[in-house]
Amino acid sequence: MATRHLGCGMADIIAPQTASPAVIRRSDYRPPAWLVPDIELDFALDPARTQVRATLTVERNGAHDGPLRLDGDGLVPVAIRVDGKVLKQDQWHLEDGTLVLPLCGDRHEVETLVEIAPQDNSKLMGLYASGGLLCTQCEAEGFRRITFFPDRPDVLSRYRVRMVADKSAYPILLANGDPVESGDLGDGRHYAVWTDPYPKPCYLFALVAGDLACNADRFVTMSGRQVRLGIWVKEADIPRTAHAMQALKNSMAWDERVYGREYDLDVFNIVAVDDFNFGAMENKGLNIFNSRYILADPETATDLDYDGVEGVVAHEYFHNWSGNRVTCRDWFQLSLKEGFTVFRDQNFSADMGSHAVKRIEDVRILRAGQFQEDNGPLAHPVRPESYMEISNFYTATIYNKGAELIRMMALMAGPERFRAGTDLYFDRHDGEAATCEDFVVAMEEGADLDLRQFRLWYEQAGTPRVKALLSHDPATATATLTLEQQIPPTPGQPDKKPMAIPLRTALFDSATGAHGRDEVLMLTEARQSFLFENVAHGPILSINRGFSAPVIVETNLSQPDLAFLAAHDDDPFARYEAMQQLMVNVLIGRIAGSPVGEDAVIEAVRGAITNPALDAAFVAEAVRLPSEAYLGDQMERVDPDAIHAARDALQQRIGAALEPLWRDIHARTGAASFSLSPAAKGARKLRNAALHYLVASGAADGPAIAFAQFSEADNMTERQAALATLANGGSEEREAALDIFYNRYASDPLTLDKWFQTQAFALHPAIVDQVAELGRHKDFTLANPNRVRALIGAFAANQWGFHQASGRGYALVADCIVALDRINPQTAARLVPPLGRWRRFDGARAAMMREQLQRILATPGLSKDVMEQAGKSLD
Ligand code: PHE
Ligand code: ZN
Repeated sequence: MATRHLGCGMADIIAPQTASPAVIRRSDYRPPAWLVPDIELDFALDPARTQVRATLTVERNGAHDGPLRLDGDGLVPVAIRVDGKVLKQDQWHLEDGTLVLPLCGDRHEVETLVEIAPQDNSKLMGLYASGGLLCTQCEAEGFRRITFFPDRPDVLSRYRVRMVADKSAYPILLANGDPVESGDLGDGRHYAVWTDPYPKPCYLFALVAGDLACNADRFVTMSGRQVRLGIWVKEADIPRTAHAMQALKNSMAWDERVYGREYDLDVFNIVAVDDFNFGAMENKGLNIFNSRYILADPETATDLDYDGVEGVVAHEYFHNWSGNRVTCRDWFQLSLKEGFTVFRDQNFSADMGSHAVKRIEDVRILRAGQFQEDNGPLAHPVRPESYMEISNFYTATIYNKGAELIRMMALMAGPERFRAGTDLYFDRHDGEAATCEDFVVAMEEGADLDLRQFRLWYEQAGTPRVKALLSHDPATATATLTLEQQIPPTPGQPDKKPMAIPLRTALFDSATGAHGRDEVLMLTEARQSFLFENVAHGPILSINRGFSAPVIVETNLSQPDLAFLAAHDDDPFARYEAMQQLMVNVLIGRIAGSPVGEDAVIEAVRGAITNPALDAAFVAEAVRLPSEAYLGDQMERVDPDAIHAARDALQQRIGAALEPLWRDIHARTGAASFSLSPAAKGARKLRNAALHYLVASGAADGPAIAFAQFSEADNMTERQAALATLANGGSEEREAALDIFYNRYASDPLTLDKWFQTQAFALHPAIVDQVAELGRHKDFTLANPNRVRALIGAFAANQWGFHQASGRGYALVADCIVALDRINPQTAARLVPPLGRWRRFDGARAAMMREQLQRILATPGLSKDVMEQAGKSLD
């Protein structure tokens, strides 16, 4: 070990305090100046005062004489030692929280001691207390709130973690990797030591201490290794962990079968906590979950919740390879792990259930979240160029559009070549911190693709618009498809280059109902034509089948053509899409004051619900009217009141015109007993759709039927849907059902969230008053992110309510952002984007939205999280 002398070359440059937060740029990436091959952490755990001793082996990386810089956020060193010697006050300094140590040698042992107070940590980043537990959240930059460390994902270390805690309050002590030692200390305290053999970035560090019970199981890997699985929850919640455990075992088997990826430790633990900023976290060998993605039973979880548990358990498990074994070089590469892992969890869920319905749901999520983001002031590329606060970049673009990029590559390669590409990627970069470019190169070589133009998908923000015009020449029996692409300007990117867009296409013969070859057309130019031969009859275009590219397609399909596709397209997504487009066209007509063509919609809905060949879950998706928000996206200027009125009226007409059918469906889909089979889930989904139309029809007994479903249901899927249907109206059953629901579930936080959320989503004229009152309810708290999202997050997504002309909805959300920012800036920042959509609204609304953004920005002591989002939203 080279130990030259300390204290030489002290560069005491104190960084000036800047008013607005610094911008971090991708182009500024430099390899780390120091590496940390090993770290030992020693925790004396206590909610009020935890001591953290960290011993780092540090190695100079390359030839330079720079100091060691260890990130810290709110930390004060109690003691610092280098190679065993205590440093004096003038041998170190803090720069904006970062500990700067001038070191002369190339390898040293650096020890720091800090004290932190988990119970005061309301940001839920770093080490914090949640419901009697102590737990950590380190991604993206939480580790620096626990100890001084180069907090960046390209510094990989081997961890040894020792925890000491009071044995009665914290009988269970968990960390990453494998348990190696534990015992009593004789003074009421005990200890445990865990080691993780796989070098990892600090954002994957985790520990949990608490009084937890375990659902224990095992999994035998493809090479025959035994893995001990544990899902750790409060004792009373153990019966609600079965679905998560099954999902975990299914995920492990699926990743072996589909990607050839085996689990690599002897232990895999999951812990559920009630207070959590996101869905879950993939810490190596110790995933920590928001309890809403672990706990499920028929009494409290909807089918959607069950699917959420399955999908998130899989997502975090899949990160063990796409994220942990191969991690990210820097946070600009976030989509490398998130886009790929979302793609993997989407396909897993499709394999576990219905491919058709899963694709429809995923596209709906993409359009509702990502298309809106891409079309506003916060639009950014899948691989961003700059950020102020990385927490703001856990976005639908990074996750969901990122997944679509992988999906397009998989489509272009085909299953076998895609697998060859991912094999090469994993093998080549195992143990490394990689980039999106590395993934693309592995795909080019392994899957034999030319992705030169495709790379633009990582660089250019904005949703491409594709115009598709099909013309037919009966004389030559040919059809010509002319495609034009246009990518709108986005912040910092006024001009765009044409992208490579794979569009799965088929031409239907309207006479025979059959279609020609289903092929992937590659649109690579701004304008391009494709010739189809042997097209005898007037063809009907089915394009972007399966939603092969994340683009907005405009066609010149007539309403009869759309009705044809809605009834005959054999690609389920395209069929659903045709139905949606049919509805959109009619609704846009109604909004513009001309309600024409509604009978075609009614007939298409009748066709779907009377077609015995269709599966119930698909029918339920197909007959659902596009959301108010989606309709807003189709308009130049969003008119929330006109949209609501038009949609409501069409719903009423469909309800009334097909009333006997809705009654019949509702009656015959009531199952004898609860099951999670795809057929049973589909039946519930269709039953809820039928109830919704039945109530919308205005039938006098509608509310009573809904109330009966609410009261008699043996599962939350039907109970909550009935409650939601009632919540939209003004019936006396509304208040009764809400009261019953509250009294039944007041002591179960996850289910009480549904009570808040159902009311916040309600299409009710008094919504703003109701949400304001719920904000003063004794069970409402800003300290719990799930509760905030259930009420305020849901309300901000309720287009009609949030955009009420009074502007009070805006003020309500802004008030919450300001208050929450002092407690939990990350969660506060995620409420800002709805206010940033002001350009899409009329002058009066836009002015009120801007006013709230300005008020937020003028708040003294604002976090950089909210400052970045509100500032960009005003630009
Ligand atoms: N990496 C987590 C995931 O997607 C998300 C997350 C980010 C959780 C930051 C917590 C904090 O699986
Ligand atoms: Zn993830």
